[in-house]
Amino acid sequence: MSEPAASNSSAETNYRDALLQIVNTPMLSQCVYVAAKLGIADLLKDGPKNSDELAAATQVHTRSLYRILRALAGFGIFAEDEGQRFALNAMAEPLRSDLPGSVRGWTIVRSEDFVWQPWGQILHALQTGESAFLHVYGQDSWDYIAEHPEVSAIFDDAMRSVSALKFKAVAEAYDFSGVDTIVDVGGGNGGLMTAILTSNPHMTGILAELPHVVEGARKNIDAAGLSDRCSCVGIDMLEAVPEGADAYVMANVIQGCDDDHAVRTLGNCRRAMKEGGRVLVVEMLIPGPNKPHLSKLIDIEMLIMTDGGRERTRQEYEALYEGAELRVTRVVPTDSPWSIVEGVAS
Ligand SMILES: C[S@@+](CC[C@H](N)C(=O)[O-])C[C@H]1O[C@@H](n2cnc3c(N)ncnc32)[C@H](O)[C@@H]1O
Repeated sequence: MSEPAASNSSAETNYRDALLQIVNTPMLSQCVYVAAKLGIADLLKDGPKNSDELAAATQVHTRSLYRILRALAGFGIFAEDEGQRFALNAMAEPLRSDLPGSVRGWTIVRSEDFVWQPWGQILHALQTGESAFLHVYGQDSWDYIAEHPEVSAIFDDAMRSVSALKFKAVAEAYDFSGVDTIVDVGGGNGGLMTAILTSNPHMTGILAELPHVVEGARKNIDAAGLSDRCSCVGIDMLEAVPEGADAYVMANVIQGCDDDHAVRTLGNCRRAMKEGGRVLVVEMLIPGPNKPHLSKLIDIEMLIMTDGGRERTRQEYEALYEGAELRVTRVVPTDSPWSIVEGVAS
C-alpha cells in the first residue's frame, strides 16, 4: 500500500484541528460568560487593570480570574501585557454594556442555568421529541420565565442585546408608507415598535404582549417619547390580538410556536386585521443544504427550549400562511440575518 500523499495527511490534520476547535468552543464560551457576567469589559473602559484590581471589584478569586482572562486573551478576547494587566481590545469591546451593539446580554443568557442545563439534555430531546427545557424544569419556558423575574430580566436583556440590529434592519428594509396602524404581536421590550414609529412619524401602534412583559415595554415606549402614538396591551396571542390595524408584525415569535400554534396566531391576525391588511413575520429563513446560517443553530435552540418551536424555510412559512387563510406576497431581505415574510388575506 502506498504512503498517503503528504498534502492529504496535512489536509486531514487541518480538518481534525478545525473540528477540535469547534468541540472546544464551549470551554471558551463559558470563560466569555463569566467575564461578561462580572462586567470585566465595563471595568476596563478607562484603562488596563490587573487581576487583583478586577477581582477586588468583582469579589472573586484573583488567581482564578487571572486564569480565565489569560485564556481569553490567548484567543484574542482582551489583551494581556507583560505585567499581567488586561485591556479592552476590538473583540472585548462588544462585551461592554454601555455601547450600542453590545452582546453582553446574549453572552450571559447562553450560559445561564435556564439555557445551559436544557442544552445539556439535548440527547433527551432527540430520544423523546420532548423539549429539553420541559424535561429539566417541568414546565414551559414562557411560564418559567414569567414566574422568575430575575430570569425574565436576563432574557429581556439578551433579547435587547441581539435585537437592536434586527429592529434597525427591519425598520430600514420595509416600506411602511401604506401602513397607518400597526400591532406588534409579542413585541417584547418595545424595540421594534420604537424603531418603526421613530422612522415613520405618520404611524401609530399597539404593542401586544403577555401581561408580565407588557409593563416593561410600556416603560420603554414612554422613555422613547412615543406614548401618545403607541399603547401597550396584555394579550395571549393564541386567543386574540387587537383588532383593526393595517399591519401585524411578529418578530421572533412564530419561531417559538409549533405549527398549530403558529397557524392559530397567524389566523388571529388574519381575522383582526383591516380589509387589505398585511401580516409581517420577521424571522431567519433556513437556506438550502450545506449553507451555513445562524438559523440552523437557532433551530436547535428551539428544539431544546420550546415545545415544538422551530426555524423554517420559505416553503414552510408559505404552508403556515395557507393554513391561516393568508398568502405570502414576498419575502423582504434585510441587512441582517432576518427576513420579513409579508402576507395578505388569500
Ligand atoms: C423571542 S421573544 C421576541 C420579542 C420581540 N418580538 C423581539 O423581537 O425582540 C418572543 C416574545 O413572544 C412573547 N410571547 C410568547 N407567547 C406569547 C403569547 N401567547 N401571547 C403574546 N406574546 C407571547 C414573549 O413574551 C416574548 O416577548
